[in-house]
Amino acid sequence: MKKQVLYDNHGRPINYLRLAVTDRCNLRCFYCMPEEGIKYLPKKQLLTFEEIERLIQVLASLGVSKIRLTGGEPFVRTDLMQLIRKIVSIEGVEQVHLTTNGILTAPHIHELKELGIASVNLSLDTLDRERFKTITRRDEFESTWSTLQQLIVSEIPVKINTVVMEGKNIDDLIPMVELTRTHNVSVRFIEEMPFNGEGNHYAKLTWTYKKILEWIKSEYPALEKLVDEPHATAYQYQVPGYRGKVGVIAAFSRTFCGTCNRIRVTAQGTLKTCLYDDGVLNTRDLMRGGASDEVLKENLIQAFSSRSRDGFEAESKRKNLVVSESMSTIGG
Ligand code: GTP
Ligand code: 5AD
Ligand code: SF4
Repeated sequence: MKKQVLYDNHGRPINYLRLAVTDRCNLRCFYCMPEEGIKYLPKKQLLTFEEIERLIQVLASLGVSKIRLTGGEPFVRTDLMQLIRKIVSIEGVEQVHLTTNGILTAPHIHELKELGIASVNLSLDTLDRERFKTITRRDEFESTWSTLQQLIVSEIPVKINTVVMEGKNIDDLIPMVELTRTHNVSVRFIEEMPFNGEGNHYAKLTWTYKKILEWIKSEYPALEKLVDEPHATAYQYQVPGYRGKVGVIAAFSRTFCGTCNRIRVTAQGTLKTCLYDDGVLNTRDLMRGGASDEVLKENLIQAFSSRSRDGFEAESKRKNLVVSESMSTIGG
């Protein structure tokens, strides 16, 4: 039987769910959250594993086949592996991915491999221990680095996420590209977005994807453009002869909205049909209020059929106009 996929009101398929399992994190990356005074959600407000499983089952029956678990840091949630074991066996779920900072990840790599995890995206903004400390406000470079090495050895596909920040990690860009010389990893440079939990973002972004690309090309004039995956966030490149790939993600410029197949569920069960909207459906309250799967489906279908065209429209429709939430509550 041909798999059913839902299309939104702009003709885009919805088949990729990004689900934040927690808003908590063991780092304090300054582009994501303030150093102190973060108000984490009370545990009762988070979706339970049972609720997450049910929601994924319902979404999978509507055609969602790719799941990415995010956070906060997913491994801060106790027994995350128990949830992953359940998710990989849900009918219709074809790929399960993870985005993690790598600090608590290493002990689980063997099982992740056994469970057939499709890929791990690792947040790593610098290769320098001191700069890592400044950016994340924690001295944990070695743990993330060791996780990266172990992921490579285990042959789980790895993408490194590097947020590009003026005055913070520009000296790292070329050394990060150099990682792809001998390692079969994808290094993706990401435009910084305003989701830092403080709302004090600059109006104009210095390090746009174009500037990042120019910077890389000035060092590697022969940089080759590769064919991008359908619905991808990253424009992909390769230095000729290198094993890995280099990508740029125009997360703030929002150039890839036209093919967006992604929906998000935050740690407290809020459905977002765009990263830049402020939530379009409270799935947790629906489930806790006793809604049947049918009612849940109707609400989800309704939300998919009124998606904003792009991140700019979603932002303009926000009730809370200033984008000030932390990426840790959204899941990236
Ligand atoms: P793949 O599944 O490997 O393509 O990963 P991904 O790029 O979807 O996920 P990841 O969690 O690694 O996110 C990388 C960066 O892309 C993060 O900064 C995300 O916030 C950003 N990103 C992902 N999806 C969107 C989106 O729909 N819009 C915008 N503006 N940024 C996004
Ligand atoms: N801007 C851009 N990317 C961000 N991330 C977290 N906060 C921001 C931000 N303000 C990225 C992290 C993580 C991914 C899910 O989102 O690098 O890997
Ligand atoms: Fe934690 Fe990720 Fe936010 Fe850094 S970006 S503080 S690793 S949730």
